[in-house]
Amino acid sequence: MIRELHNIDIAPYTSFGTSARVEELIEWDNCEELLALLAQRRKASPHPTHYTILGEGCNTLFTDNFSGTIIRSVAKGIEIVGRNKEEVLVRVAAGEIWDDVVRWSCEQGLWGAENLSAIPSSVGATAVQNIGAYGVEAKDIIAEVEYIDLKDLHIGHIAASECAFGYRDSIFKGRLAGQALITSVTYRLSTTPKPHLDYGTLRPEVERSGNLTPMGIREAVMAIRARKLPDPKMIGNAGSFFKNPILPRNQVEALRRLYPTMPTYEVAGQPEKLKIATGWMIDTLGWKGKRVGNVGVHSEQALVLVNHGGAEGKEVVALAERICREVKEKFGVDIEPEVNIVQ
Ligand code: EPU
Repeated sequence: MIRELHNIDIAPYTSFGTSARVEELIEWDNCEELLALLAQRRKASPHPTHYTILGEGCNTLFTDNFSGTIIRSVAKGIEIVGRNKEEVLVRVAAGEIWDDVVRWSCEQGLWGAENLSAIPSSVGATAVQNIGAYGVEAKDIIAEVEYIDLKDLHIGHIAASECAFGYRDSIFKGRLAGQALITSVTYRLSTTPKPHLDYGTLRPEVERSGNLTPMGIREAVMAIRARKLPDPKMIGNAGSFFKNPILPRNQVEALRRLYPTMPTYEVAGQPEKLKIATGWMIDTLGWKGKRVGNVGVHSEQALVLVNHGGAEGKEVVALAERICREVKEKFGVDIEPEVNIVQ
């Protein structure tokens, strides 16, 4: 199935729910059909078309009307493509809802995805964004990504080791941005217990329930998230709006002398650096729960900006810029958005 929509409001396709007119949106669920359409368009026009790729729209903010074509996968399918005694390889279509995959894998008793429960995302975006929560990142379970190369319309496969995964970063935001349209992601899940319980209050939450299974951990993660993070179905948001900066240790130590309660985190593979919590800085500035017009800062987690209803993308950006300025003035730290801003 291919669906071509013209001059539409993108609000229902994003979790922020800000309105913007979009010239064209193509939805697809069949790779051959999509390839045929792209080839036909290439033939018809000598100029290469630039396509913007959207997943569940949970990490994207449109700030203005958009003249161009957006491609969105609605392809579904979860398929076991390999297994041995310890591992199962699961290939999932890019348009699957990520949390449906986590629920499925927990129901199978497989380990690896449970800490990433309830993250609003498509499967394709788990690889683009290297989504992460509670001490686990998508890169820890991704084995391979399949994509259509929009330059020459061939189907490519890229191993996780080649994806340049970093903190909320990957090759799909770098060298292959706008070029690789992800069609499926293959995850490597474990049949033997591999619990990661060391982040924040996860361990006591799991111990309270006594259910040390993938499903038990999933339920604990969902309970913690529900207390802190707004449900995009109830209030427009895109999860964390900003990234947590990774800074040289001496800069963080100087900050900790001024602010002894400031949380800091070790960064795997970068012993000379520490990560600090942007949510804590915004909270310390007194922004938590504040509202400016139709936009605001979530009442339980200052890293999340919200659309109280009817906000324009530009209002969200104006609030974000104001917060960035204040963080810089007080802490001397530059923060950057985690959300992809489309202008
Ligand atoms: N904090 C505050 N006030 C706040 C928010 C946070 O003091 O308003 C403090 C917390 O008490 C804690 C520290 O800051 O000591 C970190 O907070 P939290 O554990 O909630 O995590 P985060 O750094 O704010 C990151 C991810 C989240 C992920 C959580 C849990 C980023 C940008 N965000 O948030 O991911 O769920 O850790 O692992 O890395 C997302 O990417 O959209 C997202 C929600």
